[in-house]
Amino acid sequence: MFTFLESVAVFSVLWALWRFISSSFTTSDLDNIPGPPSGSFLKGNFGQLYNIHGFDFHTKIAEQFGRVIGIFGPFGSRQLYIYDPKAVHHILVKDQYVYEETTAFLAYVGLLSLVPYDNPTEQCYPLPSSNGIVFGDGLLASLGEKHRKQRKLINPVFSVAHMRNMVPIFDDIAKKLSDAIELQVERGAPEVDVLYWMTRAALEMIGQCGLGYSFDPLTEGAVPHPFSKAAKDLVPVLFKFEFMREFMLPSLVQIGSPEFRKRAVDVLAIPWRNLRRLRELVNVMDDTTTRIYEDKKLKMDRGEGTEKGAAPAKDILSILMRANREAAEEDRLPEREVLGQLSCVTIDLRSTDTTSNAFARILHLLATYPDAQERLRKEIMEARDTHGELSYDALVALPFMDAVLRETMRLYPPVSTVIRTTRQDIVLPLSAPITGLDGREMHSIFLPNNTNVVVSILCANQDPLLWGSDAAEWKPERWLSPLPQALINARLPGVYSHILTFLGGGRACIGFKFSELELKATMSVLISKFRFALSDKKILWEMGGIVTPSVEGLPGQPQLPIKVELVESKR
Ligand code: HEM
Ligand SMILES: *[C@@H]1O[C@H](CO)[C@@H](O)[C@H](O)[C@H]1NC(C)=O
Repeated sequence: MFTFLESVAVFSVLWALWRFISSSFTTSDLDNIPGPPSGSFLKGNFGQLYNIHGFDFHTKIAEQFGRVIGIFGPFGSRQLYIYDPKAVHHILVKDQYVYEETTAFLAYVGLLSLVPYDNPTEQCYPLPSSNGIVFGDGLLASLGEKHRKQRKLINPVFSVAHMRNMVPIFDDIAKKLSDAIELQVERGAPEVDVLYWMTRAALEMIGQCGLGYSFDPLTEGAVPHPFSKAAKDLVPVLFKFEFMREFMLPSLVQIGSPEFRKRAVDVLAIPWRNLRRLRELVNVMDDTTTRIYEDKKLKMDRGEGTEKGAAPAKDILSILMRANREAAEEDRLPEREVLGQLSCVTIDLRSTDTTSNAFARILHLLATYPDAQERLRKEIMEARDTHGELSYDALVALPFMDAVLRETMRLYPPVSTVIRTTRQDIVLPLSAPITGLDGREMHSIFLPNNTNVVVSILCANQDPLLWGSDAAEWKPERWLSPLPQALINARLPGVYSHILTFLGGGRACIGFKFSELELKATMSVLISKFRFALSDKKILWEMGGIVTPSVEGLPGQPQLPIKVELVESKR
C-alpha cells in the first residue's frame, strides 16, 4: 500500500484543481439539478449511497427530490441518480450503446487480470489485455458489438425449452437441501441458518445445470469442492479492493504488458496478503472450469453425448458448446469467449449470491407474514395432491407462489442500482419536466461524455406514482388483480413484470427465468415440508453489492437464522 496512498493524494489534488477550473467556466445541466449536498469531497454521495445502511438514504432522496436527482461523485464530479421511466428506457434500451458499463466496473472485472496466469492450457485461454480471468472474456466484460454477438448465441441457451429440463435437477437438489435442514430440526436445533444452506444449494444448482458438474453433496460435514469454497470467498476478498476499483484500477490495468503485470503482482503479493489470497482463489476457479471445459471438449470431439451415443448433455455449457459448433461462421465465438461465458455465468457473484439472498428474503417475509405462508403452503399442497412432483408447467401455474415471488423481487431487489457512463455527449429525455435550481423547467438533460448515471432499481420498483400509495408495502395480492394503469403506461423496460430487478434492454439478466424456476422449485419443496417462524434475533438487511441478511450486532456476517419445524408435526 506504499506508493498507493501517495498516488491517491496527488491524483485527488490534480482532480480537485481540474474540477475547480472547469466548473468556474461552465454551468451544465447537471449542476442545475436538485439533489443532496455532497457527503465528502473524496467520495461525494457514494459513501452514503453505497453503504450497508444505505437504504434510508436512497428512499430519503427519492422522497425529497423525486425521480431525477443530481448527486456528487468522487472528487466533486456531478452525476445523475435516476428512476424516471422514460429516461430509464433511453439508458437501458434506446441509447444502450451510449450508456455503457463504467470503466470502474470493467476494471473490477479487469482486476483479475492483474493476477498471474499460470494455467497449463494457455492456448485456449490467453490473458486478454484488460479483461479478467475469472470473468474471462464473457458477457460481463464485453461491450458494444462483441457483447451483442455473445448475447445472440447465449440467449437461446436460457430459453424456456431448455429451462424446462432444469426443473427436475432443481427439485432433486431442493430435496437434498430439505434433508439437510430436516436433520438439523430432528437434532433439536432451535433455528437454522437458511442462508448458509441455500448458498450451498444455489451453487450446486448452477454447478449441475450450468456445467453438468456436482461440487457439493449438500450433506453436513461433507468436504466441499475447493471450487465452492473459492467461489464463496471471492466476493469478500474482492470487496477489499473496492476503493482501488473506483479510483485506481481503471488506469492500473492498462499499465504494461500482461507479462509485466504478472511480474508486478508476483512482487506485490509478497507483502500484500489480500492480493495473494485473490490470486489463489482465481487459480482454483480457473483450473476447475478449464478442466471441466477441456473434458467436455474431448468428449464432444469423440462424438460422445451427441447425436450418436448417449443423450446429449443438457447443461448450459454443453448446449452452448454445441450451439457454437453449429453456428454460422460469422456468429461463432472464439473458444476463449465460450469459456469466458462459463466462468461469468457460474461464478459471477450475481448468479448464486443473488439467488440465495433472494430466497432468504422470501423465507424471512413468509416468517413475518404467517398468513401468506399458510396460503402458499395450501396452494403447493393442493397442486402436489393433484400432480405429484411439480413439473415446469405445474410450477409456473401456481398464482399465489408467483405473486409472492414477484412482490418480493419488486420490493426487495437483491441488486439496488446499476451504474452506466456516457460514451458521448447525449440528451436524456424525461417523462415529466423537473424544475432546476435556477427555476428553469427542464424536459431533458444534457449529459456530457463520461457522465456517470446511477439507475435506481430500488426506487423504480417502489415508485408511488406507478404503484400507488401502498408502493412501499409487501402485498403479494396486488399481483392477483390487474396492475395499475399508470404502471402499464409508464412502460418501464424491465424484462420481468414491469420491475427493474433483472434490469432490461441488451444487458438484462440472462438468468432471470433460471432463477425464477430455481426459487419456485425450492419454495415448493421447503414450504410443503417445513413451517418457518421468526427467530428472536433481529435481522438487518445490509446493502452490499448484493443485499444480504445479518443479525443485529454482527455486521458483515451474512446469515439468516430462522425457526424451522416440520409441517407434519402440527397436522
Ligand atoms: C434473483 C436472482 C438474480 C438477480 C436479482 C439478478 C440481477 C441481475 C442484474 C440487475 C443484472 C444487470 C447488471 C448490470 O448490468 O450491471 C444481471 C446480469 C446478469 N445476470 Fe443476473 N440476476 C439473478 C440471477 C442470475 C442467474 C441465476 C444467472 C445465471 C444463470 C444470472 C446471470 C447473469 C448474467 C450472465 C448477467 C450479465 C448479462 C450481460 O451483461 O449481458 N443472473 N443480473
Ligand atoms: C468520450 O470520452 C472518451 C475518453 O474519456 C473518448 O475516448 C471518446 O472518444 C469520447 N467520445 C466522444 C464521442 O467524443
